[in-house]
Amino acid sequence: MSKITKIKGFADLFPPESDVFTRMESVARQVFGRYGFVELRTPILERTDLFCRSIGTETDVVQKEMYTFPDRKDRSLTMRPEATAGVMRAYIESGRHTQEPVSKLFTSGPMFRYERPQKGRMRQFHQINCEVLGPVEPHADAELVLMLMRFLTELGLTGLSLQINSLGCKECRPLYRKALSDFLASIDNAALCEDCRRRMETNPLRVLDCKVPGCRELTANAPTILEHNCPECRTHFDAVLRILDSRNVPYVLNDRLVRGLDYYNRTTFEVVSDSIGSQGSVAGGGRYDGLISQLGGPDVPGVGFACGMERLALMMPGEDAPRPHFHVAVLDPAAQDAALLLAENLRAQGLAGSVGFGAGSIKSRMRLAGKSGARVCLILGGDELAAGTVVVKDMDTGEQETIGRDAVAARLLAAGA
Ligand code: HAM
Repeated sequence: MSKITKIKGFADLFPPESDVFTRMESVARQVFGRYGFVELRTPILERTDLFCRSIGTETDVVQKEMYTFPDRKDRSLTMRPEATAGVMRAYIESGRHTQEPVSKLFTSGPMFRYERPQKGRMRQFHQINCEVLGPVEPHADAELVLMLMRFLTELGLTGLSLQINSLGCKECRPLYRKALSDFLASIDNAALCEDCRRRMETNPLRVLDCKVPGCRELTANAPTILEHNCPECRTHFDAVLRILDSRNVPYVLNDRLVRGLDYYNRTTFEVVSDSIGSQGSVAGGGRYDGLISQLGGPDVPGVGFACGMERLALMMPGEDAPRPHFHVAVLDPAAQDAALLLAENLRAQGLAGSVGFGAGSIKSRMRLAGKSGARVCLILGGDELAAGTVVVKDMDTGEQETIGRDAVAARLLAAGA
């Protein structure tokens, strides 16, 4: 029979990677909890229109990367390529804005983008995502960036660079777009890459973050968005930077940071690592005033970010799994029931361990105990079965002693289990 293999760009996560993911989520819950975030879980499937209207029809994500298919009633559905759109839909649909002036929502889970897989780039990947809905003040942007940096620090990550920019608002961005389009028309734009030639027409800002060296050279003298920020946007951005400065959070002003999703305005940011290869952006986000109303909701501003868990995992060492407290070695098949009952009794007391079922030589039974990594081996043969006892063997010192089975839990707990 032929084997069925996983889909390209999708991964199975075993320990230690799955343990790293669990650790990441638990640190996220702890840190975000301190800032008042609550957890929201949204569906993986949404109506395709949700992503077209939020992410933007001209973006790479919508044009080339979505897993979109009709359901059995021919409705177009899409597996979420990111979390923000679904969170906005849920926020609007639940009417949360009528219940609380500020919503701080945290989500984590799998996302799907049909990209070319490589190190740090998967077709199914996982994000930890945060959104703050309600405040218009720059303090919300700054506090969110500080929380992201605190989260990354508490994960033990170093060598990260925070890049930040302001994309302006609906008043000043069109003026910048026009200035940039005029600039692109004035250069030898036939020499731009094919994507950039298309973006020149559809989404000129995206030309700025093209990685092709020829395109970067040709656009080296392009007008910058920060120069075109209106006074309100400039004041907003200055306030964000001032707060980062007063917390001594280093950042790089990157006026080419335009992000790949269309809903951003004003503050945008990314956290980049230079130690995990070409896919170095481990987190990204920004402000998106206008998105909620664009999706049919109230006029509530928002700001958020998402971290890529696979990319963070590339920087996080796996930790040794905790040692089980016990392993029951069954030397006589007749003792299997008693072994299972003993183990259940110990687990009921909060102790962790396994039973080595099956037949085999004493040597092979003890090898199994060694492999389990347990601190203590509980040896149960015919004699112990008859006497109601068990041999307790310390797997580190080799010392052993026979005690009543009823006394095992107390012994293990007293030993500091
Ligand atoms: P994004 O920059 O598209 O933003 O993705 C955020 C992070 O997800 C990236 O920095 C990266 O770490 C990770 N990521 C993206 N694509 C892949 C992939 N194919 N494989 C592995 N990791 C990937 C967003 O998704 C926005 N929704 C963030 C946001 C939230 N903005 C406001 N609120």
